[in-house]
Amino acid sequence: MKKINISLGKRSYKIIISSDRFNDICSFLPLRPGDNAMIITNQTLSPMYLNKFISLMKKSKIEVDYITIADGEQYKTLETINYIIGILLKRSHDRNTTLISFGGGVIGDITGFVAAIYQRGVRFIQIPTTLLAQVDASVGGKTGVNHMLGKNMIGAFHQPISVIIDTNFLLSLPPREFSSGLAEVIKYGIILDASFFQWIEKNIDLLMALNKDTISYCISKCCELKADIVSNDEYDFGRRSILNLGHTFGHAIEAHMGYGSWLHGEAISVGIVMAIRTSERLGQFNTKDINRIINLLQRAKLPIYGPVEMMSKDYLPYMIRDKKVISGKLKLILPSSIGVAEVKNNIPYELVLDVINKCQNIC
Ligand code: NAD
Ligand code: GLY
Repeated sequence: MKKINISLGKRSYKIIISSDRFNDICSFLPLRPGDNAMIITNQTLSPMYLNKFISLMKKSKIEVDYITIADGEQYKTLETINYIIGILLKRSHDRNTTLISFGGGVIGDITGFVAAIYQRGVRFIQIPTTLLAQVDASVGGKTGVNHMLGKNMIGAFHQPISVIIDTNFLLSLPPREFSSGLAEVIKYGIILDASFFQWIEKNIDLLMALNKDTISYCISKCCELKADIVSNDEYDFGRRSILNLGHTFGHAIEAHMGYGSWLHGEAISVGIVMAIRTSERLGQFNTKDINRIINLLQRAKLPIYGPVEMMSKDYLPYMIRDKKVISGKLKLILPSSIGVAEVKNNIPYELVLDVINKCQNIC
């Protein structure tokens, strides 16, 4: 078992990473006998894990309730938030109820946002069950939902009181979803740590084969890298934005193609390629490293070309509304070598559109 600290003063918390400890999950929860908890999960996870989870909670004498919502990115909406809040009110949950997010990044973002706004804020715990949520979405307190006009456009910063990761949940995860999570893993290597990138190159086959020790190391490493960034820039005014490598392009793909049609990590994979090609056009990234990244994304079974249905002009409206845009100026996270990335302002739209065009065809 490994513990990683997110150091945020009064809002500090621990990420606990273990394997095959579901039976002991209540010993990791920061809850005591008699406490109220509300599990929020979805219709896919519920038949697999919910009954067992509830009976473990009851055994630990925690007063447990649950809400099961529909599964999918297309349900990450204000309507779902309103639905959950309606149930919390009808069942008389007050500010002493702790919400427990049990699922992937979608459930985590939804639960966190409800926790941020229900009765002006309640406590919540993250139990992420996808690779993507274990290495990224459950950590750092970004919560929220999508708008038709843009991804994650409505939300709040609200830190969980604990993140509890059990790598065994990944055994039931569909391979396409596992690959989606690998996009965020590879992202950490590109933006922050050249030797971790090299480690992923060496271990990608073991990761894809769900080798227990390899996965545990990988999740711990990603959480450590993210913990360091979040602990120093909780509200994303500075360095935290480098975690968004590829996201300006990727979010455009997710919104334009219809939420849920392209998985988040798939869209980010293409976004990473578009970002490194932009760096290349600006003369700050070498071809050898571009090939290493593209090769690794392909080995992780991730796409490297944008959707054929999308023209470069289709990206533009979403890119203009990107949260990093200030006064209409396009800001991108661009690597200068593997392991080093920075925020670049005022990138000409024409250059980026040209890069997108090329990434549709000849990347
Ligand atoms: P997801 O939550 O949609 O989960 C993917 C699929 O896997 C779903 O169908 C889910 O039901 C299923 N699933 C989950 N765990 C499973 C398990 N153990 N076994 C079998 N099936 C399982 O997608 P995701 O990739 O986890 O998260 C993507 C979301 O996370 C996006 O909305 C993205 O914007 C968000 N995100 C948030 C942050 C953040 O910092 N808050 C960071 C990155 C991504
Ligand atoms: N996933 C980006 C962030 O947490 O800042």
